[in-house]
Amino acid sequence: MNIVLLGAPGAGKGTQAQKLVEEFGFDHISTGDLLRAAVKAGTELGKEAKGYMDAGKLVPDSVVIGLVKERLGMPEAAAGFILDGFPRNTSQAESLDAELAGMGVSLDAALLVSVEPEVIVERLSSRRTCRTCGYTGTAADETCPRDGGEMYQRDDDEPETIKQRLDVYEESTAPLVGYYRDKGLLREVDGDRSQDEVYADVKTLLGL
Ligand code: AP5
Repeated sequence: MNIVLLGAPGAGKGTQAQKLVEEFGFDHISTGDLLRAAVKAGTELGKEAKGYMDAGKLVPDSVVIGLVKERLGMPEAAAGFILDGFPRNTSQAESLDAELAGMGVSLDAALLVSVEPEVIVERLSSRRTCRTCGYTGTAADETCPRDGGEMYQRDDDEPETIKQRLDVYEESTAPLVGYYRDKGLLREVDGDRSQDEVYADVKTLLGL
């Protein structure tokens, strides 16, 4: 299966993707993770992306689309992928359609994880991420439950930046809900329940 995950910042896209990867072995392609890795490695691309990310704005399409194309061309993606955080606007969605058509591959579903904004601000303010494996947990996790790594707070999980990210989501990304609905690919799950309840519905919606 090839899946696109949609949803506001902090809706739980990464959390649900981790669960699907653990159970079914999908290739998890997160543009946020790819960009953070480039920032950490200090590459030219990372230096260009950092200012946009810290400000809660979208990194230019030219940068992100190139990254995704490269990643989709890798052998890991051939057995089924989850795109997390991409596409984020109509132009990215159209580029993705063109790229997949060129590869002779199609999307099976666009899964929207829905959560109200108030819940999101609370979640992101307490989110902590593992420095070594990228696991996402909360402020209650002093060390990573998966590999014992150090948990840190992302630079863009500050209240002002969260607000900016939510605004960008409403303006640029939310229209993709209609885009995928029109194609008959949209599936929607209520993300404001326990992670396991959400996951059970995710699997049903995807027919897994
Ligand atoms: P990105 O990394 O993609 O961030 P995002 O979309 O803002 O999503 P998040 O990672 O913040 O949230 P999530 O939905 O994955 O939630 P999570 O599972 O972690 O992008 C960061 C930046 O990179 C962007 O702002 C932009 O600058 C740039 N960028 C990335 N892609 C781009 C693109 N395509 N184009 C241009 N720029 C791009 O969960 C959040 C928290 O809630 C965690 O603590 C988790 O434990 C908790 N949680 C999850 N589910 C539940 C639940 N059911 N109940 C209670 N708590 C829960």
